Amino acid sequence: MSIWNPLRKLYIKTTNITNGYHDDDDRLVSFYKLWSKMYDFSIKLDPAYYRQLTNMIKQVVSPSDHVLDIGCGTGLATIYSAQIAKKVTGVDMSSDMLLRLRKKTKAKKIDNIELIEGKYPDDITLEYDSIISSFALVHFSKEMRPLIYESMYENLKENGRIGLFSAQGEIAHAFETKIEIDENLKNSGFHNIVIQDVSDIYRIVIAEK
Ligand SMILES: C[S@@+](CC[C@H](N)C(=O)[O-])C[C@H]1O[C@@H](n2cnc3c(N)ncnc32)[C@H](O)[C@@H]1O
Repeated sequence: MSIWNPLRKLYIKTTNITNGYHDDDDRLVSFYKLWSKMYDFSIKLDPAYYRQLTNMIKQVVSPSDHVLDIGCGTGLATIYSAQIAKKVTGVDMSSDMLLRLRKKTKAKKIDNIELIEGKYPDDITLEYDSIISSFALVHFSKEMRPLIYESMYENLKENGRIGLFSAQGEIAHAFETKIEIDENLKNSGFHNIVIQDVSDIYRIVIAEK
């Protein structure tokens, strides 16, 4: 076992702090107002994050897709998906995180990204070919998550795909365990559910409508 393994597990456990923001949108937005300044730098500290995030996207997003990115933040997944897909819609509650993303799309002259400053699922009505979400579903309480998966199912076209990137709930309790995700997705109607544990602490989940 690598000497970093216990440290990585300790680090991901700190994510449990976000449990305090469930059902408190103002607190979440204030948290990301501050965190937006350091967010991209903090992600760079662990190269496995972006490597596995893009691993998930490559398995889910196709060139003809209109993709929805739930909790798109500063756009790490949004921008990568836009290089593959026809169009990507990112939704996020934090104007500060979206501001970082807007600066990047402007600088890189990306014209197939649409951004919605709003809350999922309330502000999303369309159906998409694929839906991705990375480290955002953790902000919903365990009681809310079944409803969120049902909304994702509703927001997908027939045979649409979802791709989720998160940490392993068996290590950090803010996230779902394999059993919880599998049960939630099956109850919402998803099939062909594949759960991949990667880079010690991360988890990729892929499923189809
Ligand atoms: C940890 S960041 C992840 C950002 C990005 N997906 C990534 O992987 O780098 C979580 C983001 O989810 C957003 N978020 C949380 N709950 C949300 C909701 N219900 N609707 C829209 N955005 C939400 C937050 O504002 C924040 O920008």
